[in-house]
Amino acid sequence: RKPTIAVVGSLNYDLVTRVPRLPDLGETLTAKSFGTNCGGKGANQAVAAARLADRCEKVDVKMVGAVGGDGFGNEMKEQMRKHGVDVESVRVVDGMSSGVAVIVVDDATGDNRIMITPGANAAVTPSSLPPWLFNPSTAPDIIVLQLEIPPETVQYIINQSAQIQPRIPIILNPAPAVPLDESIYSKVEILILNETEAALLSGVSFAVREEGAERQDALKRKAKEAVDWFVKRGASDVVVTLGAYGAYYYDHQSGDQGWFNAHHVANVVDSTGAGDTFVGAIAMNYVQLKHAEREFCIEGGVSAATDAAAWSVQRSGT
Ligand code: RIB
Ligand code: NA
Repeated sequence: RKPTIAVVGSLNYDLVTRVPRLPDLGETLTAKSFGTNCGGKGANQAVAAARLADRCEKVDVKMVGAVGGDGFGNEMKEQMRKHGVDVESVRVVDGMSSGVAVIVVDDATGDNRIMITPGANAAVTPSSLPPWLFNPSTAPDIIVLQLEIPPETVQYIINQSAQIQPRIPIILNPAPAVPLDESIYSKVEILILNETEAALLSGVSFAVREEGAERQDALKRKAKEAVDWFVKRGASDVVVTLGAYGAYYYDHQSGDQGWFNAHHVANVVDSTGAGDTFVGAIAMNYVQLKHAEREFCIEGGVSAATDAAAWSVQRSGT
């Protein structure tokens, strides 16, 4: 059987405006450009994994989600198919609109701000999930989750996967963060989150005053504090991503904690979806090693993900 990654999550149609700066209240500003992309954190992660699979060894990437019965929905499914993602389990919900993300990208820095309207992503309920997901003979090698579908569904999948034998490993990327039941952390194989999400969930504030090189050290200390909080609640491997600063990780097997610097990228075009690429790359690394009967370690996963994310910020779109 082919190694399989299942991503259960969102598909959004991204409407992206590049601006020289953010407009002030009541101000009308002329943007530099406008474009559309197929996005959504779930879809981005699936495509990242599939594109890496293409380069290495074939892995099946299956997307589970929902789009509306509109033009956006068809286009998103088609695009994902082109990138090698199996979209059989992406439902088309007539009478609902597809998820949409309005994204503003700062042309100078490549930084983004995002507003999402869930649309059909809200229809990804526990009862809508395909039976193959939890059937031991068809279950994937890993399930990748984010929080752009209802949190109840995410918690349900985590609890279900912990009950079947053998347990299905879960990668949880709690983005965008909403308060979660703390009992789920002990049932997740790999927790990957950025500083905003880590702060909201753990209560550790990442607001640091330091600048320059000292800023990185201060952020590392915060990341360590947040990691300790999750580990106390039973988390296994944890990664806190800090954008251009790098990523802090905790390896539950060795108890080691470590830091990976992000690659220096001279021209950041668009950082939208860099976190999603990071998550997709870790999922891919996990499944590949498992199938080669080699042991996955989070340090190696973070190394591969750091490379992939650095590529992703050099192109526009996710
Ligand atoms: O993480 C980037 C993604 O967030 C975008 O593609 C947008 O759709 C939002 O979901
Ligand atoms: Na990009």
